Amino acid sequence: MTTPAAVIVDAASYAQAVEDAVKASAAYYAGGTSALDDDAYDRLVRGIAAWEADHPDQMLPDSPTGKVAGGAVEGDVPHTVAMLSLDNVFSAEEFTAWTASLARRISRDATQFSVEPKLDGLAIAARYTRGRLSRLITRGDGTAGEDVSHAIGTIEGLPDELAEPITVEVRGEVLMTTVQFEHANEIRTEHGGQPFANPRNAAAGTLRAKDRAYTVPMTFFGYGLLPLAETEEQLAAQLGELAHSDLMARAAGLGVNTTATTAVPGITADSVERVLARVKEIAALRAELPFGIDGIVVKADLAADQQAAGAGSRAPRWAIAYKLPAVEKITRLLEVEWNVGRTGIIAPRAVLDPVEIDGSTITYATLHNPADITRRDLRLGDHVMVHRAGDVIPRVEAPVAHLRTGDEKPIVFPDVCPRCGAGIDTGEQRWRCENGRNCHLVASLSYAAGRDQLDIEGLGHTRVVQLVEAGLVKDLADLFTLTREQLLGLERMGETSTDNLLTALARAKDQPLSRVLCALGIRGTGRSMSRRIARHFATMDNIRAAAAETIQQVDGIGTEKAPSIVAELAELAPLIDKLAAAGINMTEPGATPPTAADSAAGTAAPSTSAEAGALAGMTVVVTGAMTGPLETLSRNQMNELIERAGGRSSSSVSKKTTLVVAGEGAGSKRAKAETLGIRLATPDEFATLVADHLD
Ligand code: IVH
Repeated sequence: MTTPAAVIVDAASYAQAVEDAVKASAAYYAGGTSALDDDAYDRLVRGIAAWEADHPDQMLPDSPTGKVAGGAVEGDVPHTVAMLSLDNVFSAEEFTAWTASLARRISRDATQFSVEPKLDGLAIAARYTRGRLSRLITRGDGTAGEDVSHAIGTIEGLPDELAEPITVEVRGEVLMTTVQFEHANEIRTEHGGQPFANPRNAAAGTLRAKDRAYTVPMTFFGYGLLPLAETEEQLAAQLGELAHSDLMARAAGLGVNTTATTAVPGITADSVERVLARVKEIAALRAELPFGIDGIVVKADLAADQQAAGAGSRAPRWAIAYKLPAVEKITRLLEVEWNVGRTGIIAPRAVLDPVEIDGSTITYATLHNPADITRRDLRLGDHVMVHRAGDVIPRVEAPVAHLRTGDEKPIVFPDVCPRCGAGIDTGEQRWRCENGRNCHLVASLSYAAGRDQLDIEGLGHTRVVQLVEAGLVKDLADLFTLTREQLLGLERMGETSTDNLLTALARAKDQPLSRVLCALGIRGTGRSMSRRIARHFATMDNIRAAAAETIQQVDGIGTEKAPSIVAELAELAPLIDKLAAAGINMTEPGATPPTAADSAAGTAAPSTSAEAGALAGMTVVVTGAMTGPLETLSRNQMNELIERAGGRSSSSVSKKTTLVVAGEGAGSKRAKAETLGIRLATPDEFATLVADHLD
């Protein structure tokens, strides 16, 4: 997990490294954007520290190792108690070593730790006088900070008034949630400003900005509560004795937002193992959090332990930041590709100067749609902040505007479909080729022939191209009327391949309706939705006869999706008729159609015998590799099995999940299930559970 420290070989390169680090940290704390991303900065500082360890007499006074991180912005409001930074560890071993050094320092093992997410924002001190928020101060150099009281009223989670009329200081992190960040950049660019590169910069810049024509909301999370000089003596004494976890509960009781309101609340742990397990849990949830975290903060929870450990000039000795790998890197936007999807959607994709983020090399990132490019004010050649966490597709967060050289070029939007040259329907946010799915006949046929749809073996991409180019296939139904002679006439098509393909096509005709429906590629109806629709209606005729309100009885289809499904089915009517005429099965085995009474009642019909199955009413997520009797099943087949057994399959774990089938190598989904207390089953246990429904 640890990336290597920068290598510093002599006094000159040491001096340069210190200068670079000071500049980067000044930009960071002043709300600008550093040319170094967090990872590069960490490596530089570790290199500096390593050189200083060997040459203590040559240490420069402004070295970043000797003081509170940053410290560039000097304010005029002194802090009552220094606002310190945190030391970092990067692995379980380093963390364990830290606990050992803590134990030596306090002459006993710490037996109670608090474990909280390390929120990626800016530290702030909020002073309350007799319960009213009177002053906001940034960390500054740790001893004095800047007065940013003008931001009062724009920070969610920091109430103007506490639940009790007491005089205290609340410390914590100000940040922007992902939604707040998007909103901030939209407003800022609308007002002619440059976009912020990431939520942290956006929070820093916004906090310090005065007299803006607009306000953008931010969010506060408290992680400290301390007395001020004017605090009543008894209360001051009381706060000094409370464990960190109790202080947080007290802060929450006063109306201050804390991590308790999030999916990763602060907890206490009584052993190093428990801390490390919690670190894993938080790391697993990171990608889904609505705000950025860059690590986990572990603190000795008890006041007595904290007092015994004390603090250095830069950081307390009773707390440590367990850093997680960086999820953001700066790289160049080289190109924008426009790809035409199966249904004719024309989607932009960023081509990046390859960059490594958390062990993977990232070359492409999603750009969503053309409006998104305009909103982000992106240009070719821009340095961009790229974000990648967990299994989520990497995204371009924003340009790093201050690194612009003036040579950046505008991104050219296509005016005709880049695939077939037809016009583009730009009426919606997502652009679409006017030829729709026909633009992509090859792609849609390949999709239809795929393993999870009609599963036509021997009909790979190359073969589909050959059939389309030879003019033998103009739509999906044409596949099923291909003759032996036609196939034999194709290049590289011998007797055996021809017979195999004809057999595979004949077999595909018997696939269940759910797969036929899925093969049609109706927008918004992937595998799982197709199964739900097929089970609900049992026959294609019933589906086609259903009005939008009736389609809405299917779980997961709302008022928006229903009319578009009805419209697409109408559009596909000639193709469906042609498929039926070619002998394709149009019924769902085991499903019974809804009765008129079901429809009239407007309730989801108990349409399948499976709903009385072993998984009735359950929502099941499968993760990791399947073994034993389930070993050969694809994920799609597992989902089909779940639904045959009356359950609902889902790909993500949430509070609604009832069971997680976790095979070998299961990672974040398993961890999340454990955090949420969701029942887990091994593949073998699950196979026993659904034995009656296995083919
Ligand atoms: S405790 C004296 N708890 O991380 C203890 N800090 O890199 C200092 N931070 O300056 C802070 N989340 O701005 C603490 N749960 C958390 C935190 C947290 C984020 C920030 C804080 C601190 C910086 C150090």
